[in-house]
Amino acid sequence: MQYRVSVRKPSVTVRVPATTANLGPGFDTLGIALKLHNQVSIRETDTLTVERIDGQKGSASANAMAREAVDAFFRRSKGKPHGLQIEVKGDVPVSSGLGSSVTVRLGIVFALNELNDRPLGDTELLDLVTALEHHPDNAAPALFGGFVVSAMINGTVRYRRFNVPPALKFVVCVPEYEVSTEKARALLPKMVPLRDAVENLNRVALITSIFATGDYSLLRGLFDDKLHQPYRKKLIPMLDEVIAGGVEAGALAGWLSGSGASIMCLAEQKEKAVAEAMANVFAKQQIRCETHILIADNDGTRVKRA
Ligand code: HSE
Repeated sequence: MQYRVSVRKPSVTVRVPATTANLGPGFDTLGIALKLHNQVSIRETDTLTVERIDGQKGSASANAMAREAVDAFFRRSKGKPHGLQIEVKGDVPVSSGLGSSVTVRLGIVFALNELNDRPLGDTELLDLVTALEHHPDNAAPALFGGFVVSAMINGTVRYRRFNVPPALKFVVCVPEYEVSTEKARALLPKMVPLRDAVENLNRVALITSIFATGDYSLLRGLFDDKLHQPYRKKLIPMLDEVIAGGVEAGALAGWLSGSGASIMCLAEQKEKAVAEAMANVFAKQQIRCETHILIADNDGTRVKRA
């Protein structure tokens, strides 16, 4: 006779990477996970309360986001809600275009899935977080790591992922002001000229094929965008200048990270000079910014062992 003994784990901590989405022309479609992380810890308690969200500014909205993610998980997994204490901490700046909201939402549903003996598979987790986020381009790389191209097809997210080597450096300038994704999306037009859409299509197909095959020097010149960046410059007026500064200093390309305000440059070399050049453009406008030189995270979300 066999016995199956299920031991409920009382707490779990998961590590979720930051992400840079869009990559210029790949609006709502392309994203890369980065080695900059938040940690979400969930402990079972007696009552269903989100007790603490640490290390995040704007904790009222983070708490609302957390509750929504908890409800969504139990609805989808048809599980019985139980008491929880949630703690989020880490290094991902809030409302800066580096996927901080995904680290909270995905961190919570991933951790709950672990705590409840994994009722949901990867695709269900991705669909769930995408429904909360409304687009998959941060959620998919945060879950799976690497470069990810993703799309919502007939109600489910389809994706392909590729590892990104550490030789590629992601130089990000995070300015001191925040941009809300909602406001940045409200600036976008309902219709765009056909030629703009075609230019973006060309570039996205080329960028994806280059990440699939690995000839990264061919990425130069492919990150121009006509669908969202031009409209978002109202909120980030020095976008073109910062990218141009980075490219002049040796970067392959640059883009608005997600909906901003962070600006990202991709470099195979001279990454320090690139960071300095980008920060100098902000400094000329008396805007302080934090710079990070990052590499891609190819692991995605993982349970953190004690
Ligand atoms: N693709 C999204 C946007 C990413 O640009 O609005 C923001 O999270």
